[in-house]
Amino acid sequence: MSALVSLEGLSVRYPRSTTPALEAVTMSVAQGEKLAIIGESGSGKSTLARALVDLLPRGSRCDGTITWQGGSPAPGRDYGYVFQDPGSSFDPILSIGAQMVEVLQTHFPLTRHDARVRAAALLARVQIPAPELALDAYPHQFSGGQKQRIAIAIAIATGPKLLIADEPTSALDTVVQAEIVALLQELVESDAMTLLFITHDIALASGLADRIAVFRNARLVEIGTANEIITAPRRSYTRGLVAAHLDLTTPVLIGDVP
Ligand SMILES: Nc1ncnc2c1ncn2[C@@H]1O[C@H](COP(=O)(O)OP(=O)(O)O)[C@@H](O)[C@H]1O
Ligand SMILES: [Mg+2]
Repeated sequence: MSALVSLEGLSVRYPRSTTPALEAVTMSVAQGEKLAIIGESGSGKSTLARALVDLLPRGSRCDGTITWQGGSPAPGRDYGYVFQDPGSSFDPILSIGAQMVEVLQTHFPLTRHDARVRAAALLARVQIPAPELALDAYPHQFSGGQKQRIAIAIAIATGPKLLIADEPTSALDTVVQAEIVALLQELVESDAMTLLFITHDIALASGLADRIAVFRNARLVEIGTANEIITAPRRSYTRGLVAAHLDLTTPVLIGDVP
């Protein structure tokens, strides 16, 4: 599979920071793959995503190279971004429809009416009930899981080739988490998008991703297929992560296996 984007020796230092947030990261994201980025808090996962799409704060120092096939993606059009806190994606005083119409009209020559029709279709795609009515509702009227569905609808509104989801389910309960992951999987596969799924949950990563990249202390520890990482991790840190997960599930497995 060809690379959508390749990183070569990427290092990032935030302004006024004495330690690098990313150090000498070399890896690529394949066109159309679902790549999970896992690692503990502070390991550099979000920094990697921000560096990729040029969203680092001003004054950050970025060394190394980032090479996009077909040029850098345009903000808000060629990639979609879903954040951990679904509330932070919205303006609380604007209706969902107004926010979606604004995004759509920024990128497409649509009348307000046509933009609303398209917005309703996007809400239907992310399984928001009664999409036409939902357009006139405000963010606080939706549950956390529904807000995250709407945030995903906005993220895919422009038909991006890359979807970045940065801990999109970490603020949600387990059942809703699984539903959101299934929705992302379905959307990414049916639209042939590339997915960068950031999580600290190795179980969630292994259920969704084709490949998993493991980060620790600003460095890429290892990258491989989800199967390789789970069944044959090469690095002791990854083995520890997998073992910790297996320890948690072992009693269930023993009970389930005849
Ligand atoms: N805006 C910022 N300014 C300074 N340091 C930051 C900033 N954002 C993150 N960092 C630091 O960079 C490191 C990596 O952070 P981050 O990429 O957010 O980790 P993760 O997403 O894996 O939790 C951490 O040490 C964090 O404290
Ligand atoms: Mg983060």
